[in-house]
Amino acid sequence: MKTLIVYIIMLIPCLGFVSCNGQTSEKEVNTKMVGGGCDGCEIMYVGMPKEIRSEDTSPGWNEKGQKLIVSGTVFQRNGKTPAPNVIIYYWQTDNNGYYSPKKGMDKRAERHGHIRGWVKTDAAGKYTIKTIRPAPYPDQTLPAHIHLSVKEPDVANEYYTDEINFEDDQLLIPYFKKYPQENRGGSGIVNPLTKGNIQITKHNIILGLNIPGYPKK
Ligand SMILES: [Fe+2]
Repeated sequence: MKTLIVYIIMLIPCLGFVSCNGQTSEKEVNTKMVGGGCDGCEIMYVGMPKEIRSEDTSPGWNEKGQKLIVSGTVFQRNGKTPAPNVIIYYWQTDNNGYYSPKKGMDKRAERHGHIRGWVKTDAAGKYTIKTIRPAPYPDQTLPAHIHLSVKEPDVANEYYTDEINFEDDQLLIPYFKKYPQENRGGSGIVNPLTKGNIQITKHNIILGLNIPGYPKK
């Protein structure tokens, strides 16, 4: 019972927002921040390691769920030049659709659950995340998603991009008909291929694309 209450508390921050993307509502847009800011953006920095590699294995990788490898290239605003040294922070629900905290984790990050991590793009702008498919929030219409925030070396603050969504998710089309994609950084919709017991997919990001207040470089 106690665990259930904790799970419900973890879901509360997402329930009041249209898409839960970065937990931001329209009213909270901070025009002084690149990307408009978001409620909980600062959680990106909680527990962030000093050394971040271009490949990360999430705590979910060895848990119950469909194994998933997401890899891609991060490009500059022109969509062509690879962007090295960009930190991507990801967080997601577990196999049951909850942002489940783990005992002992930093309380400030609990609302993002324990399946979270960081990658930093390599010299060719590439990154790889090994994780599991998140499940959608129980009894809701929001499709399953992995949240992403990026921090560029020469942009003042972090900003969120479109979440990773899955083309084979039955909740996807009805949801986007109601709430069209923002395409922040490009479309987050991926189409994983199954190889053995692993799903593999590609997700590229174009920095600054559809990001309000993005600086002209
Ligand atoms: Fe979410």
